[in-house]
Amino acid sequence: MNTLQARIEAHIDTLSTFTATPGQGTTRLTYSQEDKLARNYIKEKMKQYGLEVREDGLGNIFGKLAGTLQDAPSVLIGSHFDSVPNGGSYDGPAGVVAGLEVAALFAEHNLKPTYPLELIALVEEEGSRFGGGLMGSRGITGLITDNEFKALRDQNGITTTEAMTEIGLNPSLPKKREPNTIKAYLELHIEQGPILEATQFPIGVVETIVGLTQFEITVEGQAGHAGTTPMDRRADALVTAAQMIAQLPSLAIAEGEGTVITTGRLTVFPNGANVIPKKTVFTVDIRSGKEEHIQHVINKLNMLIDSYSTNDIKITAVQQLYMQPKVMNPEIVSLFKQTSEQLAIEYCSINSGAGHDAMVFADVTAVGMLFIPSKNGLSHCPEEWSDSSDIARAVEILYETAKKLTETNGG
Ligand code: GLV
Ligand code: MN
Ligand code: MN
Repeated sequence: MNTLQARIEAHIDTLSTFTATPGQGTTRLTYSQEDKLARNYIKEKMKQYGLEVREDGLGNIFGKLAGTLQDAPSVLIGSHFDSVPNGGSYDGPAGVVAGLEVAALFAEHNLKPTYPLELIALVEEEGSRFGGGLMGSRGITGLITDNEFKALRDQNGITTTEAMTEIGLNPSLPKKREPNTIKAYLELHIEQGPILEATQFPIGVVETIVGLTQFEITVEGQAGHAGTTPMDRRADALVTAAQMIAQLPSLAIAEGEGTVITTGRLTVFPNGANVIPKKTVFTVDIRSGKEEHIQHVINKLNMLIDSYSTNDIKITAVQQLYMQPKVMNPEIVSLFKQTSEQLAIEYCSINSGAGHDAMVFADVTAVGMLFIPSKNGLSHCPEEWSDSSDIARAVEILYETAKKLTETNGG
């Protein structure tokens, strides 16, 4: 194992210890104590690699290597460092670690870029704490306003601002960043699917990212006694939710072309074994490479909601996220491909079925993404694993690409 690979493994292993569920995968919710420990590690490494560190009013971390050109826009490189509940060690951190190691190579070779190189570690990509997801990148690009940000609460009613303050972050710092301060955004991510492993390519150059939307559906009925309330006198919020959820897969299957739909979270109130559920809240996540399929499924979801709404059952839907499918920047895509060829690294083109911060940045700057294989195609679970030698290959490609984009000579 070379030193680059050893450093990558050390970063991944250390970051994986910052979990609220030791032994049961990575659970690192945004602005939690585990977030604080991971951010301290990332900031410390950024400083060690000669970067100037700052955090914004969302808690995103930036590590900047200044350019020689005054007021020039930065080439951003990074990913997110939050996780899903009981997730893995690579979804997000692989990209942050790759960015760190690109910066380390700039430092090792004493490179002075013309345009700044800026490592970025983003918060709340998964939406596991405040819902919706992609919060760090949506805040930077102005898709979430200050007021919308302040209004977000977690499942315990804690606001973003309260949670930030709790770990010593300053929510009054600026959040939005002017697009003219960004020259490009590069992200390495694990594939989270089976294609690269099956085809034995160590690198996937991402061409497109699926469109996606997420809803939170609330079903309200009437609580009552489980033993004394006759079956024909119930307004059971869980039975209604279950009937609706059972119909969702058929909505995606009818669209085809890889359209998918998922209910990943269901909360029952008051959640007592002998109480008829008064309220249920569940999520619906819809994705497709074609926006028209997403629109069709949304229409059918609304029809489903109407058909289950009665005088006794009230159903409301809040759309928490809507992102169109995105195409990666063709020049960066070809730079990645040329660089891979020069380095004799085999690659294939690939489309992303997962959402990524890159899709948000694609609205304001030139964006490129690389994928590396995921063992058994698994992600969002403790078994998630990728090979550090693949991360090292991606670092080499990103390093060469970042040198070209920052117009750096030498190295
Ligand atoms: C992020 O992992 C997503 O695709 O939801
Ligand atoms: Mn994820
Ligand atoms: Mn991710």
